[in-house]
Amino acid sequence: MRSLKTKREFFASKPGFVLAAAGSAVGLGNMWRFSYQASEGGGAAFVCLYLLMTILIGLPIMVSELLIGRTTRRSPIDAYQSLGGRVWSVMGLIAVLTPIVILSYFSVITGWVIRYGLDAFSGFSANPGQHFAAVSEGWSAAGFHFIAMGVTVAIVIFGVRRGIERASIILMPLLLTLLIAFAVWTATLDGAMEGYRFYLSPSLAELANPTVIRQAAAQAFLSLSVGMGVMITYGSYIDKEHDLIAEGAVITMLDFSVAFIGGLVVFPLIFALGLSATVGESTVGALFISLPAAFQELGAVGQVTGFLFFAALLLAGLTSAISLLEVAVSSLVDRFRMKRVTAVSIAASAATVFGLIPALDQEMLGLMDKIASEFLVVAGALASLVLARRVLSDSGDALRQGEGRSSSHITPVALVLIRYVAPAVVGIILVLALADLFL
Ligand code: PFF
Repeated sequence: MRSLKTKREFFASKPGFVLAAAGSAVGLGNMWRFSYQASEGGGAAFVCLYLLMTILIGLPIMVSELLIGRTTRRSPIDAYQSLGGRVWSVMGLIAVLTPIVILSYFSVITGWVIRYGLDAFSGFSANPGQHFAAVSEGWSAAGFHFIAMGVTVAIVIFGVRRGIERASIILMPLLLTLLIAFAVWTATLDGAMEGYRFYLSPSLAELANPTVIRQAAAQAFLSLSVGMGVMITYGSYIDKEHDLIAEGAVITMLDFSVAFIGGLVVFPLIFALGLSATVGESTVGALFISLPAAFQELGAVGQVTGFLFFAALLLAGLTSAISLLEVAVSSLVDRFRMKRVTAVSIAASAATVFGLIPALDQEMLGLMDKIASEFLVVAGALASLVLARRVLSDSGDALRQGEGRSSSHITPVALVLIRYVAPAVVGIILVLALADLFL
């Protein structure tokens, strides 16, 4: 994505767009958040519901947002207003606030990633649970949060994001390769089977648990970077040649694969290395406790692969953080006619200060994550679906632009999902979340 200017630029190529959108989607959400949510949500039931939500609801939301962006050629705030009228400018507030809140605690976790990457040099701690507790909360965590925010801001201000994007073209496949290699290795460990059972074999009762359904939906949306204006912004940079369904499906598949393969590493590890209790106690620490334990087990090889893993994860996290900052900034520029530098300073300062809360208190991190993903993102997703109906005629012409042969017979299904199924499901999820909060 290029920075927002009055004259709209376009992505140079289809792969360029897909990679940029996948760069936003694939990040800490896939690794850190997915593993902790899946371990809290009962494992396999969560994973099944997450897959269902990703394909049936998340992908239609992504296509809707790309469509809104492509049709209106505006940034989220103006797109909402131009399609919905003045009342919708309230959504503008959410469009600024949500990315800032998410950026604030994602930056804290990016700080953990930097810290763990450095730890690789000195060897990972023999007691991963204790190490995580020591580095993930307090002033040292705050220090690494400042570093992570500093790097994000520097990339956005100095416009070196092309370099970052080029680096991630190499490092994203590296992340996937490392994950696959680790998944093969963890399969050979004694006790791995128990991990697979937890991760892959759901109990029917849990599949119907409304809390798990809600959490799986929130994970799907957050992980796909929908419900927050990023995909509207990206959509405003592409033209009619793009097949939104096919390209959206590629982004979705990449995003799901990284999370799913990550789980194939994390869960066998947790069981094989006897870490269930430690992971259970820390809640948000599943990834950061299980992986270093494996690197530690692998000796020198673990030090090198551990460093590479955290370096790749850092890049994946940075490409998401940049897109979060960019949406907040583009909304501030459009709505308040701010200069770009002023908008970056305000958004980044707010995220840095907010970030002190989750850096110093891990319970607050969990709470902020819950509010952002289960309420704000879901509300944003619902707004996109409602507004997409205004762009789509009964024949779905706007969606048909650019459609390929393979997606032409899927378009009618997509139309039904976007117009009826997804809004109904997302509406119910939002009501359930509010009921859970107030009742
Ligand atoms: N999708 C990102 C992840 O899974 O890490 C997080 C994210 C980035 C959410 C950008 C929203 C966003 F706008």
